[in-house]
Amino acid sequence: KVIHLKDYQAPEYLIDETHLTFELYEDRTLVHARLALRRNLERDQSLPPLVLHGQELELLALALDGRQLGPKEYQLDENQLSLQPDSPAFSLETTVCIHPESNTALEGLYKSGKMFCTQCEAEGFRKITYYLDRPDVMSVFTTTVKADKKRYPILLSNGNPVASGTEGDDRHWATWNDPFKKPAYLFALVAGDLKSVEDSFTTMNDREVALRIYVEPENIDKCQHALDSLKRSMRWDEQVYGREYDLDIFMIVAVSDFNMGAMENKGLNIFNSGAVLARAETATDAAHQRVEAIVAHEYFHNWSGNRVTCRDWFQLSLKEGFTVFRDAGFSADMNSATVKRIEDVAYLRTHQFAEDAGPMAHPIRPDSFIEISNFYTLTIYEKGSEVVGMLRTLLGAEGFRQGTDLYFARHDGQAVTCDDFVKAMEEANQVDLTQFKRWYSQAGTPHLAVSEHFDAGARTYSLTFHQSCPPTPGQKHKEPFVIPIALGLLDQNGQELPLRLQGEQTVGSSSRVLSVTQAKQTFTFAGMTHKPLPSLLRGFSAPVKLEFPYERDQLMFLMQHDSDGFNRWEAGQRLAVQALHDLIAQYHCNETLVIDQRLLTALRSLLENDSLDQAMVAEMLSLPSEAYLAEISETADVEAIHVAREFARKAIAQTLFEPLWQRYQANREVSRSTPYVAHAEHFARRALQNIALAYLMLSEKAEVLAACLEQFEQADNMTERLTALVVLVHSPFEEEKATALAWFAERFANDPLVMDQWFGVQAGCPLPGGLERVQHLMQHPAFTIKNPNKVRALIGAFANQNHVNFHRRDGAGYRFLADQVIMLNALNPQIASRQLSPLTRWRKFDQARQVLMKGELERILASGELSSDVYEVVSKSLA
Ligand code: ARG
Ligand code: ZN
Repeated sequence: KVIHLKDYQAPEYLIDETHLTFELYEDRTLVHARLALRRNLERDQSLPPLVLHGQELELLALALDGRQLGPKEYQLDENQLSLQPDSPAFSLETTVCIHPESNTALEGLYKSGKMFCTQCEAEGFRKITYYLDRPDVMSVFTTTVKADKKRYPILLSNGNPVASGTEGDDRHWATWNDPFKKPAYLFALVAGDLKSVEDSFTTMNDREVALRIYVEPENIDKCQHALDSLKRSMRWDEQVYGREYDLDIFMIVAVSDFNMGAMENKGLNIFNSGAVLARAETATDAAHQRVEAIVAHEYFHNWSGNRVTCRDWFQLSLKEGFTVFRDAGFSADMNSATVKRIEDVAYLRTHQFAEDAGPMAHPIRPDSFIEISNFYTLTIYEKGSEVVGMLRTLLGAEGFRQGTDLYFARHDGQAVTCDDFVKAMEEANQVDLTQFKRWYSQAGTPHLAVSEHFDAGARTYSLTFHQSCPPTPGQKHKEPFVIPIALGLLDQNGQELPLRLQGEQTVGSSSRVLSVTQAKQTFTFAGMTHKPLPSLLRGFSAPVKLEFPYERDQLMFLMQHDSDGFNRWEAGQRLAVQALHDLIAQYHCNETLVIDQRLLTALRSLLENDSLDQAMVAEMLSLPSEAYLAEISETADVEAIHVAREFARKAIAQTLFEPLWQRYQANREVSRSTPYVAHAEHFARRALQNIALAYLMLSEKAEVLAACLEQFEQADNMTERLTALVVLVHSPFEEEKATALAWFAERFANDPLVMDQWFGVQAGCPLPGGLERVQHLMQHPAFTIKNPNKVRALIGAFANQNHVNFHRRDGAGYRFLADQVIMLNALNPQIASRQLSPLTRWRKFDQARQVLMKGELERILASGELSSDVYEVVSKSLA
């Protein structure tokens, strides 16, 4: 069933108070609910039927204002409970029985290992009790949890603890009250045998907040990084957005079985263990940074999501896009801002652009959906963040902050829309953002072709922008977007020229933002004695595909001289793409591959310059991924892309062996003599060390193998150890590879998150036989298809990061993935549907592969009863 934004109606009834009592048992859970309901008078005075959501609930008792209702006084079906109230305000009591112990979908109340936990966003609360499970119904929750004392000593819910006690010999209970009105999707409950680390935070108004991270006992030594990240997040949100925390306690709980990264439940965030646990020995630098970012993200939701929430799920990007933008700002401030931007843009362009070009393309505010779980997408999150970022670019930092202040002040305690957010920005800045709002309603990635014209006589330099946007499902024709172009113009010495548009009086600054608003638009700069070199879309100021006819030596020049760090990297990527395209063309013509020496020259000068930020050098040494090269191809030639990229890597390794070896040894020496620290300079040093090692191993030299083994065996941290393992696994040194894999599996057998990395390394290995290796690993005792992290580590890594093996010509990779999706469909629909995404990209590939991929999608469609999650993605992909 398709749900449309245009059909939105305010709720018929509201719930002022929600009183819940959970009785947790091993074979069932009883949920008693008492709801204080009232007619929503914004609608009218009539008393329509009350229709509550409810799924997979066994109704045991139902009373209206204290009177038990007979079977003729209500209607029940698979999805709802309806009854007729007889007054505008009334209380409703229900008791239902549910089965968390057999809930494999990990939605609603479920068991993860030995503990009970919940995931209610978006529509999981209806699997807990009958309710108005929609975000515009906000209520004060009081929750009592009763459970066995020994098995579940810790009983948690949202808000503040208010009472607790024992019940008989074996059971105990705790009551929690959350004074802030919230929608049901922010409800949480946890019961388990947990240990916690504790700290406290003093807010800007001197309020003391207790901080606690709860984990299973074996993980108690992996919480410090998240705790530190939390405190930094709390301070940062006060300083940068003026947002203070509001309860007396803030809790995070780590669970092993979780569909997504984490969830911002009020006062009680629940995290995938992989998104919170981190220590040097078991988690890489990337994992540490991911933990820091996700802790911040969930914390920031307390304002952007919880205090101000979404009116309906079409507004999801209102909280997610904005909160991603906020966490990106935090990570930029904590680490290297340029590197953070590079990572985010590379991710967006590879994966979100692919989504935007595929059958599931949707605007950041979709018009319709079948299953909302399918819309927790890169578009809603990452493109949504870019749209907020463009507002900041257009309004300036101060204007943007005035806009967010107004938004939070005006809408505190409300459930609102993306329009409300933009309106706050407009009113705080007295601007009209009507055209800008097309970013919310139009899907697809705009294409921006730029051409230049230099007039020596008039001393003018003009840039002409042509924008267009390809059709997407349901949207043939697009209106022009507002595209902010941050740019600079460089003279022959690499100096920035003042930017004065023709007709302007004042001397311009050297970097400015142009607002492209028309399909075709020209900007003319005055006072140009020589033809300048443009540095366009600095910091990736808009999520578009920019085309400009750069010559390769111009790109080399920008790599050296552009004052914008992001664009120095971007110039290097463009140069690499051009060099790789040469190789792909040569491969197609059966010619000997010859790499453009200019790429090697440019990389050499980076490596030989000790004054550059090492993290930047590492980023610039990284060639565009196979996935990105596929994304920018009309039709992706899997083999040609792989061969070309590997050839380029070998050429780099060979030509730059000396400087790579030198940087590697110098950095490894520092790593050897310095204890692990999770800070930007250390990340930078290890990043360069590790990419250098990856190149060096391509030489297959004995001294490099020895260095790699030394790093693998001696490293005190997972960043160095895992890189050594990855390069060994990708190498032809079969014996060393087998020994290392076996040693690693034995050493970390009891650490599921490290075993995920072990699975991931092998699943991503491009050497022949990848599918067979993955099939074999599915039999490994540490693998289970019921754990989403395992599915992602093995099946997901294979299908998304192992292009040559997944796309093998005979279609066996596709068949394998479809088999897994069919199996997962019955167990965990959300995970099933997410694993499908590589198959939805069938239009990118050659005829033969298209037929095979579509064949597998059709086989899934015909495989029996499909969840709405899988049905939506498969049917839209085949449409
Ligand atoms: N709101 C969460 C976050 O991004 C994610 C919710 C997951 N929802 C889901 N349907 N699995 O922080
Ligand atoms: Zn979020």
